[in-house]
Amino acid sequence: MLVATTKKELVDALRHLTSIGLVPTMGALHQGHASLVKAAREENDTVVASIFVNPLQFQDLGDCDDYRNYPRQLDQDVELLNEAGVDIVFAPSVEEMYPGGLPLVWARTGSIGSKLEGESRPGHFDGVATVVAKLFNLVRPDRAYFGQKDAQQVAVIRRLVADLDFPVEIRPVPIIRGADGLAESSRNQRLSSIDREHALVLPEVLHDLDHRAKSGEPLRIEDARARLANSEGVTLDHLEIVDPATLEPLGVDGVLKTPALVVAAIFVGPVRLIDNIELHPHI
Ligand code: PAF
Repeated sequence: MLVATTKKELVDALRHLTSIGLVPTMGALHQGHASLVKAAREENDTVVASIFVNPLQFQDLGDCDDYRNYPRQLDQDVELLNEAGVDIVFAPSVEEMYPGGLPLVWARTGSIGSKLEGESRPGHFDGVATVVAKLFNLVRPDRAYFGQKDAQQVAVIRRLVADLDFPVEIRPVPIIRGADGLAESSRNQRLSSIDREHALVLPEVLHDLDHRAKSGEPLRIEDARARLANSEGVTLDHLEIVDPATLEPLGVDGVLKTPALVVAAIFVGPVRLIDNIELHPHI
């Protein structure tokens, strides 16, 4: 396995390769990332994974504790990627990625990036789309793999690819959950065991909505919101039922008639957790 730390090393290594799968990450890797690599490994001759904590997608362009405290564990991550069968790891510094300082020209994600997660994190998805566009230009992958846990990120990247004509196929990979049901996330490292117990109400509420949709019962979104809002140790950020492609609110509360996505975010202590589930109507 090659570890490239400059764009030139990366581009030189990729020059004659065909069928490239890209797994973009910010490191602090877990089983969710391993499943992205596995999917990429199955479909491509060459698998490239990037590890880059992108300041653009954090509050104040990285001048914040969330960015400074983001777990950085390159050696451990490289080992996991090597074991998972990655061919090339791209792990640039901030200076390598943004040599002239932070970029002047960005990918702007408009309404799809400013709702839901984007409401709590203004500019976040512009930062994601900009760095992903750079990675697409550097790696030129045939396919790129993103966790379905970040459902809005997947929707934003799909629009980036469609609107700017990137010749890459976007492959969302299903959420990986712990034995207790909590979705895998780098942020889980920051939960105490009692926080983790409190957080479990999130997958439980989503599971209950899935059950209601499948059995043709009214969804009762307000009850689901109230359960999260009143749950010990939890502050509700949002729970919405939206169109899976556009993320526009569906306003459905009764029996589900079309496929839908439920997206939710809660705070458990200082940690913001997100999760989602695709709902399919009872047939
Ligand atoms: O999902 C992430 O880890 C990041 O948002 C991504 C896609 C690697 C861009 O920095």
